[in-house]
Amino acid sequence: MCGIVGVLGNHEAAPLLVEALKRLEYRGYDSAGIATVCEGHLDRRRAVGKLANLSDLLVHEPLAGKSGIGHTRWATHGAATIENAHPHRSGPVAVVHNGIIENFRELREFLAKAGMGHATDTDTETVAMLAQYYLDQGLAPREAAKETIGRLEGAYAICLLFEGENDLMIAARQGSPLAIGHGDGEMFVGSDAIALSPLTDRITYLEEGDWAILTRETLEIRDLNGEQVSRAVKKVSIANTNIDKGGYKHFMAKEIAEQPTVSTEVLNHYIRRNEIVLPDAGLDFTAINRLTMVACGTAFYACYVAKYWFEQVAGIPVEIDVASEFRYREPPITDGTVALFVSQSGETADTLAALRYCAGKADKIVAAVNSTESSIARESDLVLPILAGVEVGVASTKAFTNQLMTLAVLALEAARQRGRLNDEQLAERIAALRSLPGLMNSALTIESRCEALALKLAEAKDILFLGRGIMYPLALEGALKLKEISYIHAEAYASGELKHGPIALVDKHVPVIVMAPRDGLFDKTISNMQEVMARGGRVLLISDAKGIEEAGDGVWESLVMPEVDPFLSPVLYALPAQMLAYYTAVAKGTDVDQPRNLAKSVTVE
Ligand code: F6R
Repeated sequence: MCGIVGVLGNHEAAPLLVEALKRLEYRGYDSAGIATVCEGHLDRRRAVGKLANLSDLLVHEPLAGKSGIGHTRWATHGAATIENAHPHRSGPVAVVHNGIIENFRELREFLAKAGMGHATDTDTETVAMLAQYYLDQGLAPREAAKETIGRLEGAYAICLLFEGENDLMIAARQGSPLAIGHGDGEMFVGSDAIALSPLTDRITYLEEGDWAILTRETLEIRDLNGEQVSRAVKKVSIANTNIDKGGYKHFMAKEIAEQPTVSTEVLNHYIRRNEIVLPDAGLDFTAINRLTMVACGTAFYACYVAKYWFEQVAGIPVEIDVASEFRYREPPITDGTVALFVSQSGETADTLAALRYCAGKADKIVAAVNSTESSIARESDLVLPILAGVEVGVASTKAFTNQLMTLAVLALEAARQRGRLNDEQLAERIAALRSLPGLMNSALTIESRCEALALKLAEAKDILFLGRGIMYPLALEGALKLKEISYIHAEAYASGELKHGPIALVDKHVPVIVMAPRDGLFDKTISNMQEVMARGGRVLLISDAKGIEEAGDGVWESLVMPEVDPFLSPVLYALPAQMLAYYTAVAKGTDVDQPRNLAKSVTVE
């Protein structure tokens, strides 16, 4: 949700900033901009739309200087216009910002009284104006920055650059992530380490409330109380920051294809022979009365699937909620509650806020995250990495299946500890899990069939997904995936719920995708499917060969999946859902990896 970068380098900054922004574009692509200081002179270039527009602009209007800041925007306050694009400038100060300055109206009033009128619709502009205000009062840049930062409320990662200062940059974080990169006689700032990976692998992560004064040779960090603090320099693995498409047309296609590999990795991490191995501060599931699982979007659907696992296999009562609701619902957290937060980015603002609500109330805070240096990971008692590798496509694919794999392992461990699975039963379940990467490879072979079906789906205005039991959350995920990248309206219903209202939507124009592995509820799902067909609905049945043979008469289309242990079918059936969404989006010619209005890491609420 907005990406920011900063460079105090020994080479021209503009190309480095653009390259780093390219690696952050997944955070927003409404506009982009950079500012540099060259021989003391501060200047900026901004362009609406994708980063490519900024690159084009820089060809015609280059920007010199070895110090600079850059931004890629996901609009919050104010439309995606050139005026609202970052960096914002007020006299001698330029700023880039990720987050929301909640008290910007109050700051605007204060500045207006001081005779400073605003020029944009953004909250960010007030940061630059405030810094200018303090400079005008005679403060030096670092003091002006300190006073400015002290007045900001809300969530922010900011980076400030000053006219006349070739070797100074000020960065601060509160609620939005920020990393400092150490070079040789160079210093960098980025929303994450991935942005900085071509520049350095030595990273310092700022903590909440930290602000940093950077020169090429020095880094001084102050905490919330103004005390100078030291923060570790960590070496990040370059392998974990690789973001090329590897020959695929889209990151999403590559990430779908990576699922057999990354799911093997996560299994190898948590299972040695037939034993489940959790990190040291493991969990005592015998002492748990309730598991509360909270997340957003696709990660929430992973929690929804896992609810069935924890309840059915481990016998633990589970509460799930979307983080944006949970955080304001003020749910009582009773004794014996473990709170589990699932997040690819580990930076999702609502999920983080929900975690903070539970901190000190729940017995333990557990995080299943892809980014182990994230805020959610750092504020948890126990971190379970999902090991999906960098996920660039805005629509989550491999992170979802690896979240499921991690949660499945956790549910089995819970069942083992609670005496609900003996060694033999556990070994059977583990063998089923171990068979998944191979089954995923088989499922990927229906890709061309998905591509052909997608041509038909692309003509629809509305599409329904149906699933029962553990396949209901997967139907929800299938609908989300389809709507977010193809822009076709899609909804999912628990198939038994259809006749309580939504069946009114069914006619011959609405494809109905029925996700029906042959599990204990297969016959019931098929009955609901018949109800749809009896009303002229066009059904695309996804099941295994026997399921389609038993129930496929009269369906519009079918997709044949490999047979799978019903316990794990949501993991496997995620693949056709993803491929149908992907190829429908391709058929519609949408921007698959960067769908409109979305961003990957949602660091505002
Ligand atoms: C959908 C998608 C989003 C994310 C959600 C949570 O494809 O990717 O719904 O799942 O924004 O993000 P994380 O997992 O980073 O907390």
